[in-house]
Formats: sequence, C-alpha cells, structure tokens
Amino acid sequence: MEKKRSKFSDKLGFVLAAAGSAVGLGNLWRFPYLAAKYGGGIFLLVYLILAVTFGFVLMITEISLGRKTRLSVIGAYQKLDKRFGFLGILACLVPFVITPYYSVIGGWVIKYLTVFVTGQMQAATNDDFFTGFITQPLAPVIFFIIFVVMTVGVVVLGVQGGIEKASRIMMPFLIVLTLFLAIFSIMQPGAMEGVIYYLKPDFSHFSATTVLAALGQLFYSMSLAMGIMITYGSYMKKENDLEASVRQVEAFDTAIAFLAGLMIIPAVFAFSGGSEEALGKGPSLMFITLPKVFNSMGLGTIVGIAFFLLVLFAALTSAISLTETLVSIVSDKFGWERRKSSLVVFVYLLAVGIPVSLGFGIWSFIAPLGMSLLDFFDFLSNSVLMPIVAFLTCIFVGYFIKPRTIIEEVEVNRPFKLQNFYTVMVKFIAPVFLVAILVFAVMEALGMIVV
Ligand code: TRP
Repeated sequence: MEKKRSKFSDKLGFVLAAAGSAVGLGNLWRFPYLAAKYGGGIFLLVYLILAVTFGFVLMITEISLGRKTRLSVIGAYQKLDKRFGFLGILACLVPFVITPYYSVIGGWVIKYLTVFVTGQMQAATNDDFFTGFITQPLAPVIFFIIFVVMTVGVVVLGVQGGIEKASRIMMPFLIVLTLFLAIFSIMQPGAMEGVIYYLKPDFSHFSATTVLAALGQLFYSMSLAMGIMITYGSYMKKENDLEASVRQVEAFDTAIAFLAGLMIIPAVFAFSGGSEEALGKGPSLMFITLPKVFNSMGLGTIVGIAFFLLVLFAALTSAISLTETLVSIVSDKFGWERRKSSLVVFVYLLAVGIPVSLGFGIWSFIAPLGMSLLDFFDFLSNSVLMPIVAFLTCIFVGYFIKPRTIIEEVEVNRPFKLQNFYTVMVKFIAPVFLVAILVFAVMEALGMIVV
C-alpha cells in the first residue's frame, strides 16, 4: 500500500534537514527582539520551559503523524479521521501568512548586505538609518522583490540539492560567527548589564503576554503548528530513532536562538543603553544594533559582510522551503503543474508582501489593531493561527485518535519513557493552557484598538 516515497537516508540526514528548516530568521532576528522586549531573562526562562514541554510534545506529535501516515499535512489528518481534514487546511494557511512578511525581512537583509559591501557601514550605525530605509516607498519593495525572485527562482528551477548542500556548509560558519560575535559583544564596556538582563529572570516582567509571545516564537522557530514537521516526518525511516531526533532538533534550534540573543542584547546595553525604548525596538532591533557592533571592531566591514551573507543564506533556505510548501499546496489543490503554481505563488507573495513593506511608509495608515502590517501578520500567524492549530492537534490526538497512536509510533524504535507525561500534556495541560493564553492575548490585542 505504501507508495515509493522519498526518504531521508539516515537519522543525521533527517536531523539536519529539520534543523535546517527550523533555523532561520526566527532564531537570529525574531528571538532576540522578543527577548529584549519581554523582559530578557524571564522570557528566556519561559521559552526554555515551553520548549521542553510544549515544543517536545508538539514536535513528537507532528513527526509521528507524518511517519505513521506517510502523508503531508492535508492528507495526514484526513487519513486518521475524516472530520479533521479541515485542520490540515487550517495548518496550511499559516505559511501563506508567514512567507510574504518573511520575504520582506529577507529584503532588509539584502539591503544591509549591500550597505556593508559598498562601505557604508558608518551611515548604518545612525539610529535613523534603518527607519529612513524601511519608510521609503520604493527601495525596500525592490529588495523584497529581489528576495522573492531568488526564492521562487530556486523553487521553479529545483536546484534545491545545491542550495541544501551550500546551506549545510554555510550553517556551521554562521554558528561560529554568531558565537564569535556573542563573545565580542559580551566584552564591550557596559555589556555586562545586558548579560544579566538576558540571563537573570525578573519576575516583575512576567505576564500572560510573555507566555503567548514565547509560545508563538516557539512554534515559529521550530516550524511547528503548520504541518511542516508532518511532511518531514513522512520522509523519515521507521528505523530512525524518533524521540532522539526530536530532542536533537530542539536542542540545536534553541541553542542558536540563545546565542543570537547573547549576541544582540548585551550589545543593546553597550551601545544604546538598556532603556525600555532601546530594548523595545521590535523587528528593527537586529538592524539597528548590529551595525554598531561591527563598526566598533577592527575589520567590521568584512565581519558585517560575512554576517549578513550568512543570515541571508539562512533566510533563503527557510524561505525556499516555505515557498516550496506553498507551491505544493497550490498544485495539489488545483492540479496545476509546478510552473503555473509557482507563478501564482509568486504573484500572491508580491500582492501581500508589497503592502507589508509599504505599511512602514506611505501606507502606514493601514494599521489593523493598531499594529503595522508586518506586526499584524506576525501576530495573526504566531499568536492566533498557530496556537489554534496546536490546540486542535492536541484535541485530535488526545480525544480522537488517542495518545496511544502516537506512543506506538514512537515505540517503533524503543520504549517511550515519557509517555505518561506526553499523555497528560496532550490531553489536559496543553489544550487548557493554549486556550487560556490565546483568549487572554487576543483580548489584550483587541483592547488596544479601544485605547
Ligand atoms: N523556523 C523558521 C525560522 O526560525 C521559520 C519557519 C517557520 C520555516 N515555518 C517554516 C522555515 C517552514 C521553513 C519551513 O526562521
């Protein structure tokens, strides 16, 4: 009954591919700015707790669903229970929301690469440089389009093998460079305060929003609650240890996010002071802080070029797999060939991404819930859709197909030691918690329009 489905050659192949999907702008750009904004150490602590509980449970679930059914997201839910076909479709919506704004950030990364290549590092250290750039009508749109053309180009031409190989070589460089920058930034005068802010939990900063932000970040960073890991699981061999693989992917992704925070947050304290304003910069944090770090070091231009090149690579590989997902959803749904589906996805990305980019400048009057368009799409996917998908997945596993189904799939390899923990989590703790957090945060966001 099982069709010939391509498989990862071994466990390492699976772990690398899943980690490759997981490591991207989420780790390098998004995690540090959230940690800075939501209280540093307390955010880190909440994130780590969620990673070993929710992250673990959800990733085990998704990969098992994929490996069991040998189907990707739409088919997987449907095969196990007809009534849950809609959940596959809901999960598919998430990459449609994420990819356009992900590509807008990708465009910013290309811009910064060109800034360093053309020797304008000094200018980029100015606080207004970044805002001056993103509020322009044309330039950021052009960089966004370049990023999308590169991404869709690769998807159409299918040179994925080459890109994947290149990213496997470049990833280690990125990690080494991030580690080096983290050490450099810790050693700056005034940085220690930032290290303390980042590592020492201050419970007065704790709120439900911290938890929701950390949870959304967890899903985003580990590519969960959108069916990606179901697809990856469907390519995994039965003899590869599922539980161990999940742990490794999680540890890897979390380690990189942690390092990125250590690279950026102490630098914020050293170069901009630890004021709430400096820490609350949001999406622009990486672009405002890092040029200052580079400028303060010898050979800063070269280090800057290397850094943004590597970030661009991490962003491209993630964007390529996101776009690949969109193209396969469209071609499965409408039965179109690859080129036609790619063209449709390309037009879609432009149609949504261009307004997101303009939302920082001439279209800033479009401000749903008082947020910029980028923040709004980010909120919609990470704080609304993903928690809903995660909640329904827990209900699906906990009460319809039953936790046994997942436990058996994990036990194909060896006894699942944490099975009691797993069962309690999917059936009770996770769903209750997800609903509470979601309701609270959405109420808060809606409250923002009234204020
Ligand atoms: N996890 C990626 C990151 O941290 C972003 C992402 C989310 C992603 N979903 C994905 C990447 C699906 C590839 C495929 O940046």
